Order: sequence, then structure tokens, then C-alpha cells
Amino acid sequence: MLGAGMVHGVRLRGGRAEWYRSRWVRSADVAARLGERYRGPQPPPAEDFAGNTHVIGYRGRVLALKESGPLPYELDGDLNTVGPCDFDRTLDGSFAAHPKFDPHTGELHAVTYAIEWDHVRHIVLDRAGHVARTTRIPVADSPMMHDFGLTEKYVVLFDNPIAFDPEAARAGALVPYAWNDRHPARVGLFPRAGGPTTWFDIPPFYFSHTLNAYDDNGRVVVDFTCMPAPFEPAGRGLGGPAAAGPPSLHRWTIDPVRGVVRTVRVDDRPQEFPRINDAYAGRRHRYGYTAASVDLFRAYGPAVGHTGVRAGNALVKHDLLRGTPQVHRLPRGADASEPVFVPAEPGAGVGPGDTRARAAR
Ligand SMILES: [Fe+2]
Repeated sequence: MLGAGMVHGVRLRGGRAEWYRSRWVRSADVAARLGERYRGPQPPPAEDFAGNTHVIGYRGRVLALKESGPLPYELDGDLNTVGPCDFDRTLDGSFAAHPKFDPHTGELHAVTYAIEWDHVRHIVLDRAGHVARTTRIPVADSPMMHDFGLTEKYVVLFDNPIAFDPEAARAGALVPYAWNDRHPARVGLFPRAGGPTTWFDIPPFYFSHTLNAYDDNGRVVVDFTCMPAPFEPAGRGLGGPAAAGPPSLHRWTIDPVRGVVRTVRVDDRPQEFPRINDAYAGRRHRYGYTAASVDLFRAYGPAVGHTGVRAGNALVKHDLLRGTPQVHRLPRGADASEPVFVPAEPGAGVGPGDTRARAAR
């Protein structure tokens, strides 16, 4: 979240790892620090930041991303920096760390925020890779919206009680956001077809990452990781405490008609960075994958005392139909981070009996 981004990559081909490499993302500032001539287009200073939060492949481009201000930086297949990306001059300002690609429509969706905005922006890029529309959704207190959910019908917004903190900003905090008890926690359903956002109050906690979301007979199901309240973002107040407790996996079932949000803790063991097979993004999924890592829990807080798997270096595969997690432990010294699902062959990753997921493809 803080320093200039470095991208790491492994090229896998024919069952072999051809290379591993790491490269600094060359923003104008990073290139200057490395004593290199910057060749890309010069972005405005506020938008010149070497993306450090997430990496996606999109329409043949590799994009290094960061929320709240900067443009994405485009990289080539060897991880060299091409330059800042404004999607052929169609993006006006801030982008997001965790955009969602809808494999059924070819759209890329993002929810963006920036310091002191009185709204967040829902941005849709069309099949041509250009921003097709931007909708401003009013919010109070300039909250941090790190991630969101996307279903066939809805954009699911997470209005956390982590909000812009003018005092922290005046003190020079790198992340001028803090837990705000006066800011209610809400989940919002913004219709993809347009219309007002419907908000639902929820108990306060820090929503961190979406595993997936989908529509289910008029209800909306969201699987996600979250931290107990009060969560404080790293770097607040010039490097304050990181967090109150480790994240775990939850499910919301939102009933827009009855105005009810049902929360179930799917797995109370510490885990983060949830992913699915991206072919099912926005549609009913059966499996999800998370990381359980010693380093992760050093950062988030103590992990002892939880049931089952203690904080170890492991990947967890969740069968959300049967409710059975499967733990793959990594060798001593190895450390799990965000898993990426790569199907062994087209259509792989669907279990027996998962006909609804097959039908959704
Ligand atoms: Fe993230």
C-alpha cells in the first residue's frame, strides 16, 4: 500500500518454469531514482505512482494497480514498464486496486475513491477497453473502498468505517485514514442497469477482499474476508499499529426485498487473499481459494488461539457447496500469498454435481 511497486513473475510453459524475475514498476519518479531516462508519457504528479497493490492481465496488457489516485501502469510480458495507462485517454483520474472482469459481458468494472471525494465512482470499461460510463455514488466521510463485489445484476459496495482522517493527513500520515466510530458500516447494491443504490446497515468490521459474489433467486450472495473492528490501516499516523485481529472468511446473503443481510462465518481460521476460478466471476461458484501465511499473520496480529489450522504456510481450498475446506501445506520456509487459479484445461475447476456453475459458464 505504501512504497513503489515491484512486480514478481514466473513464466510457466510446457510444464516448466522458464524464469522468475522481479522488476520495479518504472513510474517517472522511480525511473529518476534509478538514474534512468523515463520514456513514457508524463502523468500529472498526483497520478505518477508505481502501482504496488495488485496486478491483472487485461486485453493483452499487464497492469500494475493502486487505488485512490494513480493511473494503472502498463507492463509488457517481460515485466518491463510501458507507461501509465488511461485506457486511450478515456479514464479521468483515479482507478482501483481490484477491478472485476465479467467474462460474460467482456466488461471491466472498477469502484474508485480518492482522498476527500464526497462520492465513489463506478467505472465500466467496454469490450474495446475504453471507459464507457462513470457513475458517481455519494458517500459520507470519504471512506476507503479497497474492494467491491460484482454480480450479474449488481455492483456490491462496502462502506467501511475506515474513513479519511484530516488529523492524520495534517500529521503527514502515509495513509491518512482511520477507524471512524461515527461512520456506519453499510453494504450497498448499485444496479448495473442503473438506478439508485440501496444501502443496508451491517455490524462494523473491516471488509478486506471479495472472493466472489452472485445473484441467487432475488438474493445476493457475497463471500469475502474481513477483520474484526476496530481495524486500523497500516501506516496510519506515521506508522501506527496495523490491525486488531486476523482476517477470516465470511458469507453475506443479502435479501433486498426484506432488507436483511445474513452473515455467516464460513471459516474462522485466519486467512486472506481469496480468489476463485475467474471464469465464474459474478456467477455462482463452488470453490474458493485463500492463503494462510505466517508473514500475513505477523502483519495482522496474533493468530494463536484459533481452531484448526494455526497460522501456517498453507493454501486453503474451500468447497462452499459441501462446506469442506482442504488445506495444502507448503514446505517449511515457503510462504503463501494470493493464490491464482489456472485451469489445467478449459472447463476444469468444476466439481461433480456443480451443474449450476456449469450452466452459468
Ligand atoms: Fe487488496
